[in-house]
Amino acid sequence: MTTAKPYLTGHYTPAVDELTATGLTVEGTLPPELTGRLVRNSHNPKPGITPTHWFKGSGMVHGIRLRDGRAEWYRNRWVRTPALDGAPYLTEHGPDLTASTAGTHVIEHAGRLLALSEANLPFELTPELETVGAYDFAGTLRTAMTAHPKVDPVSGELHFFGSSPVPPYLTYHVADASGAIVHSAEVPGASAALKHDFAITRHHVVFVEGSVTFDPAEHSGIPYGWDDEQPARIGVMPRGADGAGRIRWYPVEPGSLLHAANAYEDERGRIVLEGPTVDREGFVLSWNWWTGAPGRGAEPTTASRTRRWVIDPAAGTVAEYTVDDLATEFPTINEDLLGAEHRYQYAVSFPDSDGLGGYGVVKYDRVTGERRIHEVGDARMPSEAVFVPAAGATREDDGYLLTVVSDLKQDASRLLVLDASGLGQLAAVHLPRRVTAGIHGSWIPDTAH
Ligand SMILES: [Fe+2]
Repeated sequence: MTTAKPYLTGHYTPAVDELTATGLTVEGTLPPELTGRLVRNSHNPKPGITPTHWFKGSGMVHGIRLRDGRAEWYRNRWVRTPALDGAPYLTEHGPDLTASTAGTHVIEHAGRLLALSEANLPFELTPELETVGAYDFAGTLRTAMTAHPKVDPVSGELHFFGSSPVPPYLTYHVADASGAIVHSAEVPGASAALKHDFAITRHHVVFVEGSVTFDPAEHSGIPYGWDDEQPARIGVMPRGADGAGRIRWYPVEPGSLLHAANAYEDERGRIVLEGPTVDREGFVLSWNWWTGAPGRGAEPTTASRTRRWVIDPAAGTVAEYTVDDLATEFPTINEDLLGAEHRYQYAVSFPDSDGLGGYGVVKYDRVTGERRIHEVGDARMPSEAVFVPAAGATREDDGYLLTVVSDLKQDASRLLVLDASGLGQLAAVHLPRRVTAGIHGSWIPDTAH
């Protein structure tokens, strides 16, 4: 009987080395307009290391360079942080914000490629994925930075927050399109509840405090746990310099939302928020998977179902709905619609907690209610499907979904390019290794800043 941690086996088996490969084989036709880099992060401890929690595994970024219909290169690199060499997060001087796994997400803003992990400062990478070092916005960022910052598609601003298990619990930041922090404010009324993601609308910032909060007795290395006494709340804060003082917190049903698909104001001025959410049982199944404890799901997201909150500021009420029974995670949209009402949402489907169902790339049409799934096949697992708009697109779903599929039978991976409209496969790029299942990533077009 194996005692290997689930997050070191199967699709999650870490890569043991760093590769660079050029001139990759392409099946089908890569749209020439896909000229840029797909960069994706994962937790990938060095050989011989068994982290006590999946999230404690060192970050490794995988990049695929496409240009004019060709796949020029693949490379993977560990993010070289002090934590990669064992530096502790907690020191005698307090938290070391540079002791990061930098293993959760990777984004580009104002010409900087940043590997992110929520308890830390970002780490800047070169376009070829070498580590430059911790980045603190020229000395102006003194808190941790969420792994889920939001680029406002209208202004180009980067909205983000730093959360902490001790006061100040929540600090909100805005960097302008040039990357300079122009606004920072402590957010009143926040607690030590876990805040992994958030949302922005055209006029508001939406914070989510679920039922998972700081738990110093949790011994997995990630000191959080479900607490029935922790009030679940959504905080709606007007955007702008004086917004923090006007935040309003709304009580909601117990739950834990890991990722927001999007939020927006509807025509009646209500705030709509959607994202995959777990209840207490789902959280425990998930946490047990992440820590390797008994009583876990087949995957970390086996009981995660999309939830919708409709907050009516005028009435002071919140209506809540479960949108779909399918177990999904990694919600994505056409980010040109970030903060505005979107019609289409994409996600990855997972087997449910009974092991039923399979992996696929899901598309929801929120107008017709249609759900479409691109099945990836037996023993294959897709990564977060990143939406890239087509050149000159006039429809919201005129574009591509990019997903890296881990194939256990072939011990190989392909980058799939799907037509986001019908989910048909347009191209598959052969990668020189099986890419470890991981977390989030971004498409960085050459036209980026
Ligand atoms: Fe995340």
